[in-house]
Amino acid sequence: MANDKIMKITVTRYRPEQDAEPFQQTFDVPYHNETSVLEALFYIKDHFEPSLSFRWSCRMAVCGSCGMMVNGVPHLACKTFLRDYEGKAMTIAPLENFPIERDLVVDISDLIEKIERIKPYIIPAAKDKNMPLTKEYRQTPQQMEAYRQFAQCINCGCCYAACPQYKINKDYIGPAALTLLYRYDIDNRDAGSAIRDEFLSSENGVWGCTFVGYCSEVCPKHVDPASAIQLGKVKSATNYVIKMFKPE
Ligand code: FES
Repeated sequence: MANDKIMKITVTRYRPEQDAEPFQQTFDVPYHNETSVLEALFYIKDHFEPSLSFRWSCRMAVCGSCGMMVNGVPHLACKTFLRDYEGKAMTIAPLENFPIERDLVVDISDLIEKIERIKPYIIPAAKDKNMPLTKEYRQTPQQMEAYRQFAQCINCGCCYAACPQYKINKDYIGPAALTLLYRYDIDNRDAGSAIRDEFLSSENGVWGCTFVGYCSEVCPKHVDPASAIQLGKVKSATNYVIKMFKPE
């Protein structure tokens, strides 16, 4: 690193085979204008603590692996820069609301299970079941625009770390999975709405959200889960009324 400044960075450590509970370690890290939090962690690993564990892959805000708390706020480490914390100390901790596995690595299996549960793929209508895979499903730009922003989620977990409902109720399906559910429900190629309604309208579906909106504030991809969930409430209420008049 071409370095001219030093930042004090405090990192949460936890090695389950030897630590009874997480503790903090502080390091002096040299940085320049382009140093990301992820690069600062690499510096710590290369120069001070080779055993420091954290997740990463793409280094370009695409894979969603590097979600962590930076000064108490969920961020992607590869998209967060030390220059924005100039003159302050920095603390880096594992994503909140998930069990810590080791150092900054958390267990996100609950998030993955919830995403799988809502069937995040296009479910064809019964009449299209035997359609050849080569068939084109054309969409107009307007039809694509309806769900486009909700399809930008990279499953980083930042919205779950920010969600006060998920904090107190781990059964709540949560922002990313409900956003994905809404994304497929409004895709005109999809016919799985009735199947997903079980999750959308359940007590732990959209009605579990109290519309704090912090999920949308912290999303590093500028997805708006809070809006997807409120639109999901409209859909759930509409489904309820339709079922009253057409129970079949
Ligand atoms: S390393 Fe892939 S999103 Fe940060």
